[in-house]
Amino acid sequence: MKTKNYSNKGLAKDFDFDHFIFGKTPTDHMLVMEYSEGKWGAAEIAPFGPLNLSPFTLGLHYGQLVFEGIKAFRSVSGQVSIFRPRTHLERMNHSLERMCMPTIDVEVVLAGLKELVATDQKWVPLREKNDIALYIRPLVVATEARLGVKISSEYKLLIMCTPIRKYYTKPLKVKLERQFVRAAQGGVGFVKCAGNYGGAFYPTFLAQQQGFDQVIWTDASTHTYLEESGTMNIAIYFDGKLITPIGGDSVLKGVTLDSVLQLAVDHNVEVEQRPIAYTELLEYLKGRRRVEIFGVGTVAVVAPISHIEIEGIEYTSYVGGDGFMYQLESWLSDIRLGRTNDDHNWNYYVD
Ligand SMILES: Cc1ncc(COP(=O)(O)O)c(C=O)c1O
Repeated sequence: MKTKNYSNKGLAKDFDFDHFIFGKTPTDHMLVMEYSEGKWGAAEIAPFGPLNLSPFTLGLHYGQLVFEGIKAFRSVSGQVSIFRPRTHLERMNHSLERMCMPTIDVEVVLAGLKELVATDQKWVPLREKNDIALYIRPLVVATEARLGVKISSEYKLLIMCTPIRKYYTKPLKVKLERQFVRAAQGGVGFVKCAGNYGGAFYPTFLAQQQGFDQVIWTDASTHTYLEESGTMNIAIYFDGKLITPIGGDSVLKGVTLDSVLQLAVDHNVEVEQRPIAYTELLEYLKGRRRVEIFGVGTVAVVAPISHIEIEGIEYTSYVGGDGFMYQLESWLSDIRLGRTNDDHNWNYYVD
């Protein structure tokens, strides 16, 4: 790993952690690693800055671009830890493989990531209020400068960071999407590639124009089974059970979902991962019993859903303060902030 001794100008000291818009302010440094002639070079921590790319850059034309979204937290003891970085980097390798891009050595990139976060750790204050954390965005893009529909022979891995706070501040209103498709079996829905997001913008934009925050996708062939939402997996809590859809290769396997399912199991809550037809959800919603629906993801953490429109009719789901989803959220946050035992070794300490 190449490390230069860059002075940390410490821009974080002027940053207002109480009022900011997510994604606008990079931290001082980024990690850069390049691939050419069949191998990855050394990782380098560099000052955050613009890229110098040819307009012929293949990744700009044919979509060989994958990324990840990870968070780091300052624990109550003052240490900074990254949440499940190996799991995220392993998922990035699945994305790279599917997009015909070179995989990374997880341990090498993890060492670089650790150094990056340690270098910029002033950007991770201890602020339990508003869920302040550091959002980490690894990205790999095809950089060979040459037109032509082909697999690139050169790539750049970048890791950049930016502060993040509680993303959704109120329960969401969503629409069950039964016309447009995000991903189909055999496609790339299970990977975190740029095209999945670009393709989802238009249906989501239409739903937002109708007053919804997000859509919940259904399976491409029958539009019957629930899949996931924009940047979140979804889960239902009903009758003492936590139920979540299986989407095969059309749904991103969320690290947050995996974590909350594990926490539910740890607390003896029954968990079911299986296909969920929207008609089953309708039955729950039409009954008199309480049903909780919520999204889970790195950015969203646990996002309560208060309204869901299915076939033109709006239903309400439970978002009261004693909901099980808030229990899951607090179990998760207790681990991330070091308030409770990290039995599964999810926190990766950088110092
Ligand atoms: C499409 C999609 N589904 C689900 C998730 C949740 O995944 P994770 O919990 O790993 O952030 C994300 C966010 O990364 C996403 O973009």
